[in-house]
Amino acid sequence: SANSMWGGRFAAGPDAIMEAINASIGYDRRLAPQDIAGSRAHAAMLAATGIISDNDAEVIREGLLTVLSEIETGDFPFSTALEDIHMNVEARLRDLIGEPAGRLHTARSRNDQVAVDFRLWVRDQCDQADEALGALQKALLGQAEAGADWVMPGFTHLQVAQPVTWGHHMLAYVEMFARDRSRFADARARMNTSPLGAAALAGTSFPIDRDMTAQALGFDRPMSNSLDGVADRDFALEFLASASICAMHLSRLAEELVIWSSAQFRFVKMSDKWSTGSSIMPQKRNPDAAELIRAKIGRIFGANVALMTVMKGLPLTYSKDMQEDKEQTFDAADNLMLALAAMTGMVADMTANRESLKAAAATGFSTATDLADWLVRELGLPFREAHHVTGSLVALAEEKTCDLPDLSLAQMQSVHADIRADVFDVLGVENSVASRTSFGGTAPSQVRAQIATWKEKLE
Ligand code: ARG
Repeated sequence: SANSMWGGRFAAGPDAIMEAINASIGYDRRLAPQDIAGSRAHAAMLAATGIISDNDAEVIREGLLTVLSEIETGDFPFSTALEDIHMNVEARLRDLIGEPAGRLHTARSRNDQVAVDFRLWVRDQCDQADEALGALQKALLGQAEAGADWVMPGFTHLQVAQPVTWGHHMLAYVEMFARDRSRFADARARMNTSPLGAAALAGTSFPIDRDMTAQALGFDRPMSNSLDGVADRDFALEFLASASICAMHLSRLAEELVIWSSAQFRFVKMSDKWSTGSSIMPQKRNPDAAELIRAKIGRIFGANVALMTVMKGLPLTYSKDMQEDKEQTFDAADNLMLALAAMTGMVADMTANRESLKAAAATGFSTATDLADWLVRELGLPFREAHHVTGSLVALAEEKTCDLPDLSLAQMQSVHADIRADVFDVLGVENSVASRTSFGGTAPSQVRAQIATWKEKLE
């Protein structure tokens, strides 16, 4: 039989496969709270403007609350034949309250309805991402405080470069996640305008009050162009783009945790809660959560590309293609939240190994730059020449299979006669980091100042 919502001109119902490809209720049921909030705002506005009676509006309001509680308790009879959440809710409302239910859709279309529902949902995800990122920043800050002055190797090309502090390294991620938060906040501010009242695409001849519904739903104002209101999904794309960048940061941190927890590095030990064993190798402690974060990030990037691809060829305004916006965004948001929660737990629970960090900091001739700087400062050598002299000293140490501080003064002087004994002061890793006091540098004094600033900001 023909569709009860739009089947007036149809004699027959859809093919089963048509119904399967068309239905979104399998996933857009998640929009039920937003759909009902949007309908409540719309109904109240219809009454306030005299488009429907106050009595009908009240009956609709109560019916919608019943529908919501049925959905929350799992008693709601979802139907694939009714395609999507919007028609499922309305059909159930009609079962519950009868004729007034048919008045709810006055001056509205599923096109502005879905646009407003989805915006509300994505807006909420921006808030959740912000909160989750704040928790992760606090966990990282806790690590930074615990080891503000612990020395570790800083890397470029994953080759030992210069000594840095553990606190400095943790704070680098605090900064990245702060920018992620501001990206979600920017996206949220831009998406916070209401498409409700755009109706199908052209607006409506009913005397609706779009400011009223916008305000009731927490939007700053109604969108100014009805075509734009139903046609664009850039708000979801901004969320996915912000999520992708955040996910990229998470993945880099996850990668570092995998490397750092290996037997070759031993920089960190994951807690039992965040490690897994092997069914054959009894000694194993695997960083599965970090690996899964690293892997799941691909789904978030994928969702971003998928929705860009869905949207790029669509003539204005709505096309059914746009129904494909939701599953991707839901999956990306779910996995982002899961990755953030797992990362926060891992970081909060892990223990940095101060001894291993320090031992590694002294390898790889990590204070060679300090030596070159000393030659410039104390002997007045041009930096390029100092670089060359230091290179020769590194080669000498390599030949003697020792580290730079293990060379004797005589050996040093065989490379450059003016080198004095006080050069050894700059070859220690603690001295090296302590000397990097430039703003934003790795010196413990700088790191402690940054920690204090972040503590205040994150409180
Ligand atoms: N389920 C649809 C979606 O998610 C709702 C909008 C349907 N509008 C329409 N004109 N068929 O996009």
